[in-house]
Amino acid sequence: MADNELDELDPLLFRRVLGYFPTGVTVVTARTSDGVPIGLTIGSFTSVSLEPPLVGFLPMVHSDRWPAIKASGSFCVNVLGADQGELCWRFARTTVEEPFDGVEWQPSRATGSPILHGAIAWIDCSLEEVVEAGDHYFVTGRVLELEHVAPESEPNPLLFFRGKLGEFSQHE
Ligand SMILES: Cc1cc2nc3c(=O)[nH]c(=O)nc-3n(C[C@H](O)[C@H](O)[C@H](O)COP(=O)(O)O)c2cc1C
Repeated sequence: MADNELDELDPLLFRRVLGYFPTGVTVVTARTSDGVPIGLTIGSFTSVSLEPPLVGFLPMVHSDRWPAIKASGSFCVNVLGADQGELCWRFARTTVEEPFDGVEWQPSRATGSPILHGAIAWIDCSLEEVVEAGDHYFVTGRVLELEHVAPESEPNPLLFFRGKLGEFSQHE
């Protein structure tokens, strides 16, 4: 395909087609040097490497909250449960002044980043590398500690598909 054809790629089509790929929903959290909690809803979370243990996600270059997370040098990825849709939208909005108001959390042992009450799993990381990737950064973190809720609690993840939230249903 010639360069000019690529330039003409319809951004709405790009977004619509990529929306057919479902993701889980996470809130990436950190603490500022003053101890103030920060959180950002992220769907682009992925496992990267087992040896060494790395995970990754892609914040927008223009994200207001990413620089604060970067400055902290660490982050915790909270995997949201199906009943946590409200948290998904709350941490996606830039206009909420106190997004942690009324949110129960505890600091992680390794980095002090918020572990959100009700998350079905969390992965606490030190910031490893930040690589430019178009209008996003590809951020990798080295996993320091991680945990999931008891399988007996039958955890159900929050899922995002074609702009809407839903949940997982297992085939019989
Ligand atoms: C389900 C869902 C997934 C999202 N995934 C990402 C993502 O992977 N990367 C990203 O930069 N923003 C993502 N966002 C948008 C961010 O949560 C946020 O709104 C945006 O980055 C602006 O935040 P700012 O206040 O840091 O500028 C997602 C939003 C939703 C609702």
